[in-house]
Amino acid sequence: MLAKVSSSTFPKNFVWGFATAAPQIEGAAFEDGKGWSTWDDFSRQPGRVHNGDTLDVACDHYHRFDDDFRLMRSLGARNYRLSLAWPRIIPDGTGAVNQAGLDFYHRLFDSLERHGITPWVTMYHWDTPLALEKAGGWSNRATVDAFARYADVIVQAFGDRVKNWITLNEIPCFTTRCYGRSADKPPAAVKASAQVVNQTVHHAVLAHGHGVRAVRTYGGRGARVGLTDNTTGYIPVTETEPDIAAARRAFTRANDAILGVVTQGRYSASYLRACGADRPVVQRGDLALISLPTDFLGLNVYFADFVRAVPGRPGFEVLPFPPGYPQTTATGWLKTTPQALYWTPRFATEAYGAKTIYITENGYGANEEPNAAGELHDLHRRDYLRQYLLELRRAISDGVAVKGYFAWSFMDNFEWNDGYSVRFGLCHTNYQTQRRTPKLSARWYSEVIRRNRLV
Ligand code: FCB
Repeated sequence: MLAKVSSSTFPKNFVWGFATAAPQIEGAAFEDGKGWSTWDDFSRQPGRVHNGDTLDVACDHYHRFDDDFRLMRSLGARNYRLSLAWPRIIPDGTGAVNQAGLDFYHRLFDSLERHGITPWVTMYHWDTPLALEKAGGWSNRATVDAFARYADVIVQAFGDRVKNWITLNEIPCFTTRCYGRSADKPPAAVKASAQVVNQTVHHAVLAHGHGVRAVRTYGGRGARVGLTDNTTGYIPVTETEPDIAAARRAFTRANDAILGVVTQGRYSASYLRACGADRPVVQRGDLALISLPTDFLGLNVYFADFVRAVPGRPGFEVLPFPPGYPQTTATGWLKTTPQALYWTPRFATEAYGAKTIYITENGYGANEEPNAAGELHDLHRRDYLRQYLLELRRAISDGVAVKGYFAWSFMDNFEWNDGYSVRFGLCHTNYQTQRRTPKLSARWYSEVIRRNRLV
């Protein structure tokens, strides 16, 4: 008799779920009073998004959410991270609240409740109301004020039914990647100075502070709130003290601008040194708001770079990937580096004192279609998830307080600049028929959830 298959069990009450975002799945881009978002506009500009794809219909989740949640529950998920569309709720960013937008999310939360799924709600996942973008978007401090009001509106409206709030998703992807000279995300055309780009990040962390404030003010009993960050991650090339210390140094160097100020209430000396004359303008009271205590840190982890220790300053070297390594995915940017899911939460704990961490996104993008029998054997995604989760399990064994994991994504959806050409879903979306088909990875993940261990 062979020994029993060794198991990798997760802690009791570990939160397993799926993640999505409103602009990527909802469609109904101009229905029931929704205003234009910056991505609605950007996707219509020639050459911006693969194939000229738009968010107009996406997965038509706006009309199909009940069936989607039935499928989600049938896969065993009891937790779901979604985002609210700001332009659905305050169409022009500053004017009247659109009751039809609030009603939609009430119907959606009713449906989640019926299916026994707990919502984890991101306030903002990149879909700025276009009117605010036209007035300078995140480079304009007025966007922070508009966000503060929006946060108040949504927490007041949904605070009795939503207890897990995430303020913002991935600050770099709507600031540094959007306004500078090499920007590839909206508005992209601004070509702002380094000072202005640093200012957009400051405005974003300030908006995060308002999100926390809104939850503390209107969230009611049991409300929890945190930020989701896509830290720049590093893996020590050997798990020995010198390389680990070098990778940790690289980690803080790269992440101080956001996690440093959010957790410590001040910009670090090394961050300010790196900014030089282009440091952000900070007003009285900003730092206290930015660093209001949170309940958890959300981490989106897809890949990391390898680092080794070298003599002198800064004491680390980031190693280039040799040709053909690691396995590349359809996205280009996503490198399969499972140890990212060990070291990123560990360094977030060691460097920034994170006490409770949720992996709010992790996933694999490919271009794939079901076979003639209607099945989709995405062994690549199953492998990717399994290897990453093994590393996450190891981090938990080593004392890192990771309490949950959300797979990106529930179903294939609008993948930003890649349009519909890159599929991240564990369920396949047929964009002609809107049929969802669970892939092999969805069946696999469903077993993981059911048994609370890797299978
Ligand atoms: C993350 C985004 C998410 C999704 C994945 C693949 O950066 O937060 O919306 O597109 O990448």
